[in-house]
Amino acid sequence: DWTMGAYREQAIEAIRQQVGDKKVICALSGGVDSSVAAALLHEAIGSQLTCVFVDHGLLRLNEAEEVLSMFRDHMNLQVIHAEEQELFLGELEGQSDPETKRKIIGKLFIDVFQKYANEIEGAEFLAQGTLYPDVIESVSFSGGPSVTIKSHHNVGGLPEKMGLKLVEPLRELFKDEVRALGVELGLPASFIGRHPFPGPGLAIRCPGEITREKLEILRKADAVYIDQIRKHGLYDEIWQAFVAILPVRTVGVMGDGRTYDYACALRAVTSVDGMTADYYPFSHEFLGETATRIINEVQGINRVTYDITSKPPGTIEWE
Ligand code: XMP
Repeated sequence: DWTMGAYREQAIEAIRQQVGDKKVICALSGGVDSSVAAALLHEAIGSQLTCVFVDHGLLRLNEAEEVLSMFRDHMNLQVIHAEEQELFLGELEGQSDPETKRKIIGKLFIDVFQKYANEIEGAEFLAQGTLYPDVIESVSFSGGPSVTIKSHHNVGGLPEKMGLKLVEPLRELFKDEVRALGVELGLPASFIGRHPFPGPGLAIRCPGEITREKLEILRKADAVYIDQIRKHGLYDEIWQAFVAILPVRTVGVMGDGRTYDYACALRAVTSVDGMTADYYPFSHEFLGETATRIINEVQGINRVTYDITSKPPGTIEWE
């Protein structure tokens, strides 16, 4: 794509102009926006960039390994793996209120990011994968009345607090343009096409209290579900798909024994921007096969349901 090629050159020049020979830090989540921002910055300023990947213990199966291996081994970026699983899971212990959980995670994320960033000597800039829609949204919503459905976490406010200047190389782009730029920069198409994953991670797919046991079960079930979706060639038709583990155990029968295990809900939606969504009309065959696989392959789950709520009135995530 020659237009993205031209944009890339221009963006690289602008980053070099802004940053000079100073150091930049970037919170890398593995999501499309922060990944493309990091790849672009790396191309512009190479080793002046250090990324911090915060591992809150709420990531999917093999997610940390995959993100780290791609950025470190294949793209040669400097990435600090902030292994803070114990901290996050410890603070979340016994908490079951959705907003409380979100606030704990959001606050710890900022604390942790700040701690690691402070160890990078001489950093003067903080890079963010802010997109054009984020820019408009924060302008049009400011001052007006607003209802907070869910508090999202980001590193807003942090730059001033840490005395850092902002670099936002994706500020003029829409999501599809960011994807095109990512491909242009050599990120694998499979990575660029990944479904969105929320900052609080599996915490909001584990309604009620989070335990290590539930997270473990959830990771396995989610991996089977996504594998099914990929095998049936449906991944790219769906905006987002995931499993939520429910805070209830139900009675079942397996072989000649009684089971008493968790129930889970499969979620899959189509959407343009995440603001509204419809549930995905899977075939009954697909649903039946997936339920059988999850129950057979994931110890700890004995009942599978399919969430057929659209947004509104539901939200995409369960919390
Ligand atoms: P809801 O559940 O509000 O989600 O319908 C809409 C979209 O936003 C994602 N989401 C988040 N993303 N931090 C994020 O980065 C968050 O706190 C957060 N909460 C929800 C959700 O996965 C969906 O794509």
